[in-house]
Amino acid sequence: MITVVGSINIDLVVQTDHMPEQGETTLGNSLSIFTGGKGANQAVAISRLGMNAQFIGACGTDEYGKIALSSLKKKNIKTDQVFIVPDVSTGVASIIVSNSDNRIIVIPGANHLLTPEKISLVKDEIVKSEMVVLQLEIPPETVQAVLEICHEHQIPTILNPAPMDKFKKDFIDLATYITPNETECISLFGENIEETLEQYPNKLVVTLGDKGARFYDGGKHVYVKSYPVKAVDTTGAGDTFNGSFAVALTEGKTIEEAVRFANASASLSVEKKGAQTGMPSYEMVLNRLGEDEAASSL
Ligand code: RIB
Ligand code: NA
Repeated sequence: MITVVGSINIDLVVQTDHMPEQGETTLGNSLSIFTGGKGANQAVAISRLGMNAQFIGACGTDEYGKIALSSLKKKNIKTDQVFIVPDVSTGVASIIVSNSDNRIIVIPGANHLLTPEKISLVKDEIVKSEMVVLQLEIPPETVQAVLEICHEHQIPTILNPAPMDKFKKDFIDLATYITPNETECISLFGENIEETLEQYPNKLVVTLGDKGARFYDGGKHVYVKSYPVKAVDTTGAGDTFNGSFAVALTEGKTIEEAVRFANASASLSVEKKGAQTGMPSYEMVLNRLGEDEAASSL
């Protein structure tokens, strides 16, 4: 079982052809409501790929909380350890999607009440995991507490440092894998990505959006190219990458194989609207990887 400790949100997504500038009013195309939150999304990615997933997080007693939680249950994700907190709203993300690109503002609500104290109540469930996946939409003290538990019990962890402003240097040694995107990597570690990667071989995996992903294996830099897809909505592509990376590593794939797998999986996710809608099945990922092999043998 893979456990994801993180955020759960309702995504309010406005689709528009033109991203408004400051002070500008524009007419959009649609407003959709999706289930989201980086934590919940990563759990969904794992479960879609056929692996047992457990989600640990916090939501409110409001209607959004009920919708978000029941949607995870319907996707066969274990949610017994989700805290339902009174007198606070479930997390909400306001998302503008324009030409497949997005801008997101998260109102954390209940996610901020997933405290280290709550983690100590579910420690027994955490230590049963084969792998634990984290992001930074919950308090950093909580991330630290989970990383420490896993470190102590030798459970591998993936930390997706998004959003990056809550990142703490202490996380670097505690986490097994850290998966920033290019912007996050530069802000957290400095301009020179190559040097940064060389400092953290087989730990740091940098996702490059429509350019794929890269890491350093201790001897050479490994680049994994992206797929030429028609992106509809890239929201959740990073989450798909992280969930898929966790699945592949848990199955015993090498880091390089796991990055290839996660990259193919993420490329499929951007072909559908919403963060979770386009997350692929295992078979779909294998097909995409196969297309790749077929293309390279031409
Ligand atoms: O990574 C995408 C997610 O970020 C969205 O689902 C939104 O809820 C925010 O958490
Ligand atoms: Na998508």
